[in-house]
Amino acid sequence: MLIKTDFCLQPFNTFHIKVFARSLSIIGFPADLEELYEEGALNEKSILILGEGSNILFTKHYEGLILLNQIRRMEVKTEDEDWVYLKVNSGENWPALVDYTVDQGWGGLENLSLIPGTVGAAPVQNIGAYGAELKDVLESVEVFNMQTGKTEVFSKAECGFGYRDSIFKTKYKGRYFILSVLLKLSKNPNLNLEYAPLKKKFENRDPGLISVKEVSDAVKEIRLSKLPDPAKLGNAGSFFKNPVVSFAKIEELAAEYPETPFYKVDEENYKVAAGWLIEKAGWKGKRIGDAGVHEKQALVLVNYGSVTGEEIFKLSQKIQSSVNSKFGVELECEVTVF
Ligand code: EPU
Repeated sequence: MLIKTDFCLQPFNTFHIKVFARSLSIIGFPADLEELYEEGALNEKSILILGEGSNILFTKHYEGLILLNQIRRMEVKTEDEDWVYLKVNSGENWPALVDYTVDQGWGGLENLSLIPGTVGAAPVQNIGAYGAELKDVLESVEVFNMQTGKTEVFSKAECGFGYRDSIFKTKYKGRYFILSVLLKLSKNPNLNLEYAPLKKKFENRDPGLISVKEVSDAVKEIRLSKLPDPAKLGNAGSFFKNPVVSFAKIEELAAEYPETPFYKVDEENYKVAAGWLIEKAGWKGKRIGDAGVHEKQALVLVNYGSVTGEEIFKLSQKIQSSVNSKFGVELECEVTVF
């Protein structure tokens, strides 16, 4: 297998940070991984699987091997009157996949329109937006075990999905290369319009007459109004997770700020909107050199030109400590920082 050296990663991360990988191999087919395994290249200590780099911040050059995922193609495995089982290889572009399924009139991915990145990154993160998560439609994940050279299949239950979380990010971090996902999409879509702006948009409509295309278009409109396009302004979406806190903490926050946006997770846990905390701490629209906090969504950090990863990371630390001292709430990074 061809391994390139000193490879510039600037086009392969949506923050557009200029760093280099010590070595990089382009994976076009599962057989490429088998070959690397046979050659012993996967014994390397530091291996990073990169798709479109839409959830990553590089603070330094990568002194290991990057596997650049370009395994493409999708196919309908089976279908009946109600469902389509679509197998999608992990190097496919996520927004293009959503558009394709929406054009077919299949329901399930419409709320996840325009999320940047590859299909392979979706289960790692259990991507979510506007009231939906990947786990709602995922059946199974096919993976290449880089320690054994064997292909395995994980059922949805085995993936351990949580809020922006899965076992591929925690327990099995670095062990598996995701090859494909199997999605169960509906031919009689049951639309999810719970997210307040979507509910409002369709409030006067007969739910039975709303198409998946209309929902997808509405989601795109909301996203484009709040979130910067990484092709124009480098960013990696939400930089932090929405923190999960106790009810006592919610009561404390609401006593001082009755407008605090929060959502119930379960009896004991509540999620507070990190964007709101950051805005209230005075960071929205702030800029330090070329590192900035987006003016329409404070949860998104942006590259205004030629920022370094280190500068973005320093800004994120300042935000964390200021939110912590003002509200006593810890913000955890959603983006992977290297
Ligand atoms: N808010 C503010 N100020 C801000 C940003 C948000 O006050 O600068 C308030 C909003 O007014 C609203 C609440 O915070 O009351 C929540 O905002 P929003 O609906 O925009 O969603 P979010 O919680 O900030 C999450 C996801 C996004 C996803 C949206 C929509 C996380 C970390 N982020 O953001 O996902 O698009 O919900 O579902 O869960 C991503 O993961 O990269 C991402 C963009």
